[in-house]
Amino acid sequence: MSDYHDSWLENIRMVAHELKTPIFAARGFIDLAENLGPLNEKQEQYLGRAIDSLGRMERLVLLILQAARVDSGKAVRFEELNIANVIERDVHQLEPFADQHNVKLHVELGAGLGLLRGNIDSLSQVISNLLTNAIKYSKPNDGGSVWLNADGDDQWVTIVVRDDGIGISSEHLARIFDRFYRVENGKQKIEGVGLGLYIVRALVEQHGGVVSVESAVDQGTTFTIRLPRIAKPPESVVDEAASA
Ligand SMILES: Nc1ncnc2c1ncn2[C@@H]1O[C@H](COP(=O)(O)OP(=O)(O)OP(=O)(O)O)[C@@H](O)[C@H]1O
Ligand SMILES: [Mg+2]
Repeated sequence: MSDYHDSWLENIRMVAHELKTPIFAARGFIDLAENLGPLNEKQEQYLGRAIDSLGRMERLVLLILQAARVDSGKAVRFEELNIANVIERDVHQLEPFADQHNVKLHVELGAGLGLLRGNIDSLSQVISNLLTNAIKYSKPNDGGSVWLNADGDDQWVTIVVRDDGIGISSEHLARIFDRFYRVENGKQKIEGVGLGLYIVRALVEQHGGVVSVESAVDQGTTFTIRLPRIAKPPESVVDEAASA
């Protein structure tokens, strides 16, 4: 990577990092305002909107920091982890988001899942980015479904996230893993910046795995992730056992 690219990335990362402080402060002041006494309906509504906006800003900052981190090739720790627990936790965290979108989550975890060598935060990020997409690109006003199926054999753990949402046309499909690539979805503006899948692919590859996608417009999309059971960490990745 060029020096220019390195310093640009570092500056973006620094700005994103600096944004955390004012976001945190604004949240604190909203909490204080809420404690001042009974609020009227309008005050409550406006503060609620401010909190939502801050939440979105926070998510954006986190995505930028994660993208910058994967681009930097910085070390992450690998450990033996129970992938079913990671999946269950992520699903649980996204249940309210699915409810908001009127989407039903169906999860099936096979007996072959077992243990996997990897980085818990990275894998959790992969699963939640895919689930978030599957939920938010559901068909509007049409109570869709999202299925997460996972199982494993001696060598591979396979995680499939499928939805019956709006789908992706073939001209876009090849580019959705590109950094900042988004599909224009017509009238309805769906929030996002186009970093989620870029991060997914980078993190899966960090584990020596592969991600693939199939989709049909108006029918739905299926992402399949295959992770080697004993992930051999790339050179830039620190193995906990080796570094202990
Ligand atoms: N399950 C899905 N169904 C339909 N389209 C999808 C799905 N997942 C991804 N896409 C398309 O691929 C694009 C890239 O996805 P990606 O997750 O990288 O970015 P995003 O969701 O737009 O923003 P964010 O960075 O907040 O995740 C999306 O803008 C969307 O058009
Ligand atoms: Mg996304």
